[in-house]
Amino acid sequence: THDLECLTIDQLEKIAADRMDKQTRDYYNEGADSGTTLAENKSAYQKYRIRPRVLRDVSKIDTSVDIFRFKNTIPMGVAPTAMQRLAHQDGELATARACKKAGIVMGLSSFSTTSLEDVKDALGKEHPGLLQLYLFEDREESKDLIARAKKAGYKAVALTVDTPMLGRRNLEIKNQFKLPRHLKSANFDRVGENHSVTSDEKEPEANEARKRMQEQEVSRAGYHDGSQWVSPTGRITFHSHAPNPTLNWERDIDWLKQQCHPEMEVWVKGIATGEDAILACHHGVDGVIVSNHGGRQLNGALATIDALPEVVDAVKSMNRKMPVHVDGGIRHGTDVFKALALGADFVWIGRPVLWGLAYKGQEGVELCLKLFNDEFRLCMGLAGVTSVDEIGKEYLAKINRDGF
Ligand code: FNR
Repeated sequence: THDLECLTIDQLEKIAADRMDKQTRDYYNEGADSGTTLAENKSAYQKYRIRPRVLRDVSKIDTSVDIFRFKNTIPMGVAPTAMQRLAHQDGELATARACKKAGIVMGLSSFSTTSLEDVKDALGKEHPGLLQLYLFEDREESKDLIARAKKAGYKAVALTVDTPMLGRRNLEIKNQFKLPRHLKSANFDRVGENHSVTSDEKEPEANEARKRMQEQEVSRAGYHDGSQWVSPTGRITFHSHAPNPTLNWERDIDWLKQQCHPEMEVWVKGIATGEDAILACHHGVDGVIVSNHGGRQLNGALATIDALPEVVDAVKSMNRKMPVHVDGGIRHGTDVFKALALGADFVWIGRPVLWGLAYKGQEGVELCLKLFNDEFRLCMGLAGVTSVDEIGKEYLAKINRDGF
């Protein structure tokens, strides 16, 4: 059965836009600066066309892949996106239930508006979840979060590495984006974005830091005032704690592996070059996600599908079987196919899920996942492929977008 109102992700985007308040719509949909990378993440897929093979008996198609020892319906998961209760009152719980029903792995943002434990409960024991991490200056906080994720049964963490500073998002600044009073960053309970001042903030030093933060609120540059890094104190909020310019391979990746292994895999999210892919191999991470944060960080960066081939080649050159995933601008099942043909093992989708949530909560996310599922299956069949591991370079042609 089809939802006749909404037969494509592009339609879902339009319908959802009408259902969100301006602050939410702007926060979800915008990219950094002029939005070049946001737009190219999507348009870059149009450089590729599929070379379909025929007469191959496609009556039986297996779209599934294994991830975290789970049979995932298609090679696609739900990317971690913050603050899902802005889109719908059920927020991350609706997403979790839809993922479970569809047999699709869920990524949860550290800055979710539902706690990681509640989300894992909704996913159930068997269904895999991945927790996205920002590593904080205050290691005790990060340690605590990792221990909780382990206890709750998350299969992996993904450290986001493309946010040493926060990208400049002008609508967010203009709207003076704030989590509404009734919502909170649920993983840091004592410190919701709008909670009253905690006792440590009554200390003059913390007060001073808070004042500085408020002064910087307009620039949204976190605690980096352009010349120096001001270490965050007090309540944990997305804007103050997500960006951390001190992170580095040697100290932090090894530390993270120690904290997580063997129970949880350690992935790095936000790789965009072959050089960093090689470093990721050297540092023994369990996988990388080629991502530019949905065009929300460095504007002018390569579209992710354009960065993917160099990452795939670099990993191949290392002779290590490290999986490579990609996200950004994936809006159709054929995009999933193209990403796999270019060497990705798996893809993740961000905004389409938020649009599904805004449209109809759980049902809307189910619709979103079903659209991708149907499109991907159809694409495989029409391209003459019956299992995911057959999808390779020979199924793609690159065209010149100017038409020459
Ligand atoms: C994100 N993304 C993100 N990534 C992350 O590591 N931690 C986070 O908290 C968030 N939050 C977040 C909020 C919103 C509103 C968006 C749109 C994105 C990035 C996300 O995981 C993913 O990389 C992109 O969304 C993928 O691009 P598409 O599919 O949105 O084009």
